[in-house]
Amino acid sequence: MLPFDDDAARRIARTYTTPDIVGQRERTLALLDLAPGERALDVGTGPGQLLAAMAARVGPDGLARGVDPSPAMVAMARERCAGLPATAVTEGGVSGPGSLPDGPFDAVVSTQVLEYVADIPAALAEIHRVLRPGGRVLLLDTDWDSVVWQVDDRDRHARVLTAWEQHLVDPRLPRTLGPALRAAGFTDVRVDVIPLLNATWDEDTYSAWTLGTIADYVAGRGGLRRADADAWAADVRDRGDYFFSVNRYAFRAARPRGRSGVDGSSGAASAGPS
Ligand SMILES: C[S@@+](CC[C@H](N)C(=O)[O-])C[C@H]1O[C@@H](n2cnc3c(N)ncnc32)[C@H](O)[C@@H]1O
Repeated sequence: MLPFDDDAARRIARTYTTPDIVGQRERTLALLDLAPGERALDVGTGPGQLLAAMAARVGPDGLARGVDPSPAMVAMARERCAGLPATAVTEGGVSGPGSLPDGPFDAVVSTQVLEYVADIPAALAEIHRVLRPGGRVLLLDTDWDSVVWQVDDRDRHARVLTAWEQHLVDPRLPRTLGPALRAAGFTDVRVDVIPLLNATWDEDTYSAWTLGTIADYVAGRGGLRRADADAWAADVRDRGDYFFSVNRYAFRAARPRGRSGVDGSSGAASAGPS
């Protein structure tokens, strides 16, 4: 797994200021559709950019609550949200029953987080528990099979991306999230794709920042030496025919209103498919 320490937090925060991720955040916020006065929880809030934007939408009469297990991320999110009314950031993460702050929340969002979580049914049951009946969830994750990157050495590239997959629990989570949401008792499951596309080389892009993160991570893994990682990075970056794209998938679903068996007390997946 990626160590979400001070260095990683700084690098992720910088990567998330690129126009690619600013656009992804705007799309996420549009899909989440928060209203003034709503209570919203950001699970794995990271550097807190989404949380700060959520606070602006729910306003002083709402609540924008963030949790993250990384002390470095919590410190960064707290600093970003300092002075914003109705925000709170605490250390914690989604796992089994009682791991999230008790709601009820009108909305729960978690972007680029569940792919790091080992027990998805338990995490979805816990998100379900803290939502009010009728509340909604938005989960955004990457399918790393969707990466398109122009390179000369395709064999080395394949080995790099395979080693990179070790940085998370499930590099292909989106393809199973819909059924998992239904099994956890959610209804009205909808999915949108949010592509990131860098069709020319530019330092201020998601892929330019991520290639450095990948090179550092894979050096010493999967039989790749530092020199292999550096050679891969040199092969990919700053080419005349630079091309990169990857897909994020945003799942929205609702906790049903007043269905028996999914009343928030058990958090169990007892409802049938929607
Ligand atoms: C790639 S960052 C995404 C940050 C933020 N959600 C965003 O999109 O801007 C992943 C974050 O997930 C957090 N994380 C990892 N495991 C978690 C868990 N079980 N529950 C909540 N957050 C978790 C990490 O500490 C890290 O801050």
